[in-house]
Amino acid sequence: GPPFPVFTRQEVARHHSEGDRVWVTYGSDVFDVTDFLELHPGGKSKILLAAGGALEPFWALYAMHKQEHVLELLQGYKVGEL
Ligand code: HEM
Repeated sequence: GPPFPVFTRQEVARHHSEGDRVWVTYGSDVFDVTDFLELHPGGKSKILLAAGGALEPFWALYAMHKQEHVLELLQGYKVGEL
């Protein structure tokens, strides 16, 4: 497929609320998870804690995310790379 657009962490950080779309990073990938907020088994409010930044600090605490099915789901929301 075509290459993904490249964003800075500063650009990702602007997407920290539903009105501005909710973006997160994992590794060097950028995801727009706005459409997943209502579908999250852990609730919308938990994802909003990570909005505009990295998932790693949160997923270090909530290790149930480190499963193939979760990472595949996340890939579906990819919009760019750092
Ligand atoms: C559960 C996805 C961000 C907290 C889950 C599950 C999925 C998921 C698929 C169910 C896992 C399973 O049972 O096999 C995601 C995605 C995220 C995200 C794609 C990123 C956009 C977060 C963040 C937090 C969090 C940032 C915490 C600050 C939780 C909790 C559960 C959960 C507490 C367990 C809910 C329960 O079983 O009662 N998440 N999550 N998640 N997530 Fe997330």
